[in-house]
Amino acid sequence: MHRLVIVLLGSAALPDCSQAAGAPASRCAVRQVNAIARACGPLLRAEARRLSDGNTVRRDARVARVLSRLSHARDAPQAADMLFRLAGIAIGDATTRGLRALGEEAGLLIGTAVEPHDVASDPNYPPVLASDVASLTAENAMKWAPVHPDPGTYDFAAADAVVALAESGSHRLRGHTLVWGGAALPPYVEGAATGDELRSYLADHIATTMGRWAGRIAQWDVVNEPLSGILDPPTPDGLDDNVFRRLLGPGYVAEALELARAADPTAKLYVNENGIEVPGPRQDRFFALVQELLAAGAPLDGVGFQAHLGLIPIGQYPDAATIEASLRRFAELGLEVELTELDVTLLFRSGDLPSRLEFQGDYYRGVLEACTRVPACTGVTLWGLADRYTWVRRSFGFTDFPLPFDDDWRRKPAYFGMRAALAAAALRNA
Ligand code: G3I
Repeated sequence: MHRLVIVLLGSAALPDCSQAAGAPASRCAVRQVNAIARACGPLLRAEARRLSDGNTVRRDARVARVLSRLSHARDAPQAADMLFRLAGIAIGDATTRGLRALGEEAGLLIGTAVEPHDVASDPNYPPVLASDVASLTAENAMKWAPVHPDPGTYDFAAADAVVALAESGSHRLRGHTLVWGGAALPPYVEGAATGDELRSYLADHIATTMGRWAGRIAQWDVVNEPLSGILDPPTPDGLDDNVFRRLLGPGYVAEALELARAADPTAKLYVNENGIEVPGPRQDRFFALVQELLAAGAPLDGVGFQAHLGLIPIGQYPDAATIEASLRRFAELGLEVELTELDVTLLFRSGDLPSRLEFQGDYYRGVLEACTRVPACTGVTLWGLADRYTWVRRSFGFTDFPLPFDDDWRRKPAYFGMRAALAAAALRNA
């Protein structure tokens, strides 16, 4: 089949992108892909229908062969690469079906972190939230310091805005995060003098914060980053040396989970960590913590893989098979797994920007592919949508381009890479 389609490609009068440079190149590539979609979409749809007349196993194997041939064709590499993306677009129309619909057909929710003031002030945001997002996380608004700045004071205004935004767009909500010893803690918590004092703050914080939206937030990152920071000196037990660990002992993670279950029994309870996508001592330590929690009967439902890829650990881009194996390792404990803060930094990639963006596109495709192949992987949340809002720029001042939309909200190769993976999974699930 693919020879025929490649020939057809040759006659598809593709726009010539060889002269374009930088951002227009991706716009030109999108024109190319749409030209291919017009020329070949019906053919690929017919192929998908033909392949889908068999049973699931036969269909999967044959579909996988077709897509594999397309993505490894030697005679027209660029066309073949475009065609692989087309395989995704042929399932979901290039202009109307976004990542939200494709993700749901692939069996997972695509999400993003948001700051409410960004959404309110940028007219480009709402349409993308509607077409490409099924789940929202408050990037900062639900953290301890913003919502509970003093022992007797709660300020839910910004957090309520995120909840309202999610509910108005029928988005699932992830609560982030109730207990994080590493940041966003007010001085009265950091400065607690005794375990009893801290325990009273913790119980009040979890009961009040979760209670405010009980039944409306699907998942909570109850504890964020319980391991010692990946760049910090190692601690004797591998746990982060924070006020909770110091005053309440290592059992604070289980304590927080128990308080959370009592506060909202409808919510799935997660522990969220970075740098666990790659096998090694850090993933092993986190796995041991999760096993200890489950053995102690702690109410743990899921594990969040933050997936700040290329950054934590620095310069490491674990491939799709590695990420899939890491997800499976925790899923086999009976847990849900989600990618909860996905971004792919280009800070540690050499080459000109167009070539790094092409790498990023293929890499995003592999990361999404990994999640689609693990049934317990129920969601992929991006840590932002457009590069202009990435925390990497805001927190470190670096010029980075880690997200699927560029500064002007144009869809980057990363967007099409995500789409191709979701479409291939949707085809498998069809
Ligand atoms: O809102 C205040 C503003 O009023 C003030 O003028 C300004 C002065 O610096 O600070 C603003 O708050 C900042 C906040 O982001 C909102 O922009 C905080 O200083 C800053 O520390 C905070 O950084 C956030 C960081 O978590 C710490 O909470 C990042 O935006 C956020 O992307 C980052 O996200 C974390 C996840 O929650 C957990 N996993 C790692 C991830 C990246 O660090």
